[in-house]
Amino acid sequence: MKVEMEDLHEEDATVCDSVNSLVEGCRLPVHMKGTDDWPLAELISIKEILGTKCYYVHYVDFNKRLDEWVTEEYLDTRKVHFPRRDGTSNTGVSTPKKIHFGEVNSRPSSPIPAPSQEILNGNAVLAAALQKKINSRKRKVPTTENEDSLEAPAPPVPGPRQSGSMVAHHDDVVTRMKNVNMIELGRHRIKPWYFAPYPQMVNLPCIYICEFCLKYKKSRKCLERHLVKCNLKHPPGNEIYRKEGVSFFEIDGRKNKQYAQNLCLLAKLFLDHKTLYYDTDPFLFYVMTVFDNRGFHIVGYFSKEKESTEDYNVACILTMPPYQRKGYGKLLIEFSYELSKFEGKTGSPEKPLSDLGLLSYRSYWAQTILEILITMNPVGENEKPQITINEICELTSIKKEDVISTLQNLNLINYYKGQYIIALNKDIIDSHRKAMESRKIRIDPKCLHWTPKDWGKRAKW
Ligand code: ACO
Ligand code: ZN
Repeated sequence: MKVEMEDLHEEDATVCDSVNSLVEGCRLPVHMKGTDDWPLAELISIKEILGTKCYYVHYVDFNKRLDEWVTEEYLDTRKVHFPRRDGTSNTGVSTPKKIHFGEVNSRPSSPIPAPSQEILNGNAVLAAALQKKINSRKRKVPTTENEDSLEAPAPPVPGPRQSGSMVAHHDDVVTRMKNVNMIELGRHRIKPWYFAPYPQMVNLPCIYICEFCLKYKKSRKCLERHLVKCNLKHPPGNEIYRKEGVSFFEIDGRKNKQYAQNLCLLAKLFLDHKTLYYDTDPFLFYVMTVFDNRGFHIVGYFSKEKESTEDYNVACILTMPPYQRKGYGKLLIEFSYELSKFEGKTGSPEKPLSDLGLLSYRSYWAQTILEILITMNPVGENEKPQITINEICELTSIKKEDVISTLQNLNLINYYKGQYIIALNKDIIDSHRKAMESRKIRIDPKCLHWTPKDWGKRAKW
């Protein structure tokens, strides 16, 4: 992708003959590592490291997970936009629009537009290109053997639901930058995507995390000492589902506070638009694992409010990066709707969705609804099958708005002779069948051993 110079307002752009005049907030074309592209980027931070000036850049039209440190040669100083003198910058950075507990809107940094009539495939192609970039840019960071043992204290617990120190500082330069270089989780070394406030874990080449209790240590030695004492081989809580090596554990954020907080911290490394839940009491956590002879390894999770006034059935959802793009995200989503079916309710994920969250949900909704439409039987001979939107909601537990937006996105609703009809052509049926064949792992409701609790009836979670 080339930067279109016309995109820059000519009157604001300046030829900058030296990198020395660059300041934080400047926007200019930057060579994206591992690609031939020079997208427009904003300088978030400038630092001298061992005598070399380094620039932390955010590519304006890309997701923040691609932000990186670059050196001078990556900068094209021929057209620079300087921040405005009045203190505001022409950076396009937006302050959070809506803040409520556990969530904050982020600036629009994704190439994938918000829910709209966008064609699903177009989005998938864009995101796939993005993923390719991410994969091609993975590199190794050396490990260290730091002797110091450190049991970090739990993060401070903010009082009321509406508060949270993370929210207030969200757009600070600090929280806009990735602060953790690398994590080691079980046998995986993973490069984080976003900032996460791991207490006392600054400037380390790697944070070592116990894959079962999620405690974090600053050296492998410390972790090894921990592993001698830690006898967990699975997440805490109740195993409520098991089939073909995949299990789900239900964890109460009040009963297993430390685990829940550590899970939120870990998740924050890969979730940009959500703030941390320091107060985990109102949430349940559903951790999905895969089993082998060493234990139940965390693959992903979703959190869910014990009581949601807005019919949310998922607060945050994450597949750990080594397991992504293998169908586990959809399995987590399927499981969340299975819980809603057991509850006899419809549900929807908490908004805003991330770019990847939106892709995954749209794909899940489309497949689930098409499956019903395609397998429907006609009422009588020569009759067309009939179904109402409400019936689709009841069968799937997908909330009405999501059913309607999915049908619209798929362009299936037509108005014909005074009524709405859904017309499925052969292409859509064929491509649906193919997609379903590739969904190898599925949730089997018979293997879910769970009864919903009525949290409203309890005095306090
Ligand atoms: N590029 C293109 N398409 C993608 C990508 C990607 N990087 N990642 C997933 N998809 C598509 C897949 O192609 C698939 O669609 P398809 O079956 O129609 O081809 C669909 O999304 C789901 O793929 P899965 O393999 O089932 O999902 P995955 O295990 O990768 O998990 C998830 C998806 C959970 C969103 C993951 O990307 C993730 O953890 N991201 C970081 C955290 C995040 O953004 N979570 C959602 C926030 S919104 C909320 O919390 C309510
Ligand atoms: Zn442990």
